[in-house]
Amino acid sequence: MTVENFKALVVNQDENFTVKVNDLTLNDLPNGEVLIKVSYSGINYKDSLAAIQDGKIVTSYPFVPGIDLAGIVVSSEDSRFQEGDKVIATSYEIGVSHFGGFSEYARIPSKWIVPCPSGLSLKEAMIIGTAGFTAALSIQRLQENGISPENGKILVTGATGGVGSFAVSILSTLGYQVEASTGKDSEHEYLNNLGATSIVAREEVFDGKIRALGKQKWAAAVDSVGGEPLASLLSQIQYGGAVASSGLTAGTNLPTSVFPFILRGVNLLGIDSVYCPMDVRLNIWDRLATDFKPANLEGFIYQEVTLQQLPNVLPILLKGQARGRFLVKL
Ligand SMILES: NC(=O)c1ccc[n+]([C@@H]2O[C@H](COP(=O)([O-])OP(=O)(O)OC[C@H]3O[C@@H](n4cnc5c(N)ncnc54)[C@H](OP(=O)(O)O)[C@@H]3O)[C@@H](O)[C@H]2O)c1
Repeated sequence: MTVENFKALVVNQDENFTVKVNDLTLNDLPNGEVLIKVSYSGINYKDSLAAIQDGKIVTSYPFVPGIDLAGIVVSSEDSRFQEGDKVIATSYEIGVSHFGGFSEYARIPSKWIVPCPSGLSLKEAMIIGTAGFTAALSIQRLQENGISPENGKILVTGATGGVGSFAVSILSTLGYQVEASTGKDSEHEYLNNLGATSIVAREEVFDGKIRALGKQKWAAAVDSVGGEPLASLLSQIQYGGAVASSGLTAGTNLPTSVFPFILRGVNLLGIDSVYCPMDVRLNIWDRLATDFKPANLEGFIYQEVTLQQLPNVLPILLKGQARGRFLVKL
């Protein structure tokens, strides 16, 4: 296969910190058994952090970010993957210390690659991306902890974000009553269309004061916000409920007490998409192509962008202004 050169978004720290589209050759790509012609990527919060100077994601420069990619196998040294296969590669070191998806070509270790399930196109897989995968993993963990639609309302925080949007939609598809918490008054219609049964302002989840125990409002929660809002919602979960915690948009400190756990039997479930074991990962992608698959995946796309647009678009997520998903077409 001869590829003279191809385009990729490169972040670099020389005299200045730069984020630019450059020409690379296949020799610039890191080691891995599978060479992929990337069709789509997506933007996650972590990618926006990777594209700023003090984002604490990238450790070595120059670097190609993009924690998600989907594309077609060009060549493979692992017999499990053949030329022409449709594949998904997310998580592990991709976009963190291994060149990622903001690139027309990627070389990826085969142990990080998932065959694209037959029920998803490459575009659909990247509309879902790590955000949708994390929402799905959160919901599967709630199910494993006995949370069913009969238990009552499920709260989704950061509901217009990537993880939040998918959590609202998947829960609604599965027949749960979903209360969506958002800071965006303008996006209630978007949340209703995703399947939210009710909408609350962020301040109704966290009014500035964290109580040891509050009124029991929700059977469970999918939380990608973290920080004080997570501490506050823990004190408002019903007896025997559970909270799936995946994010830190509102901060990393969790100023809670033991009371929700020891007086109400609430479970705090940690959600990690990055090193999620491969058997669980394959099962989650399978569910995203079947019973978890949202009806209108195109409706999650906030903007479809090119590599050239990425330097202007990446900062939007850091301001919490995004809604749904940015899809990157390579
Ligand atoms: N554990 C994992 O494996 C994993 C995987 C994926 C993502 N994450 C983490 O999950 C978080 C969300 O990721 P994402 O891709 O969904 O990001 P995103 O698209 O930027 O969504 C974040 C949402 O949080 C809400 N928000 C923003 N600032 C807030 C604040 N100060 N207080 C409360 N809510 C706030 C906003 O929604 P509203 O305006 O609707 O409230 C925003 O849209 C990030 O921290 C990310 O690193 C973790």
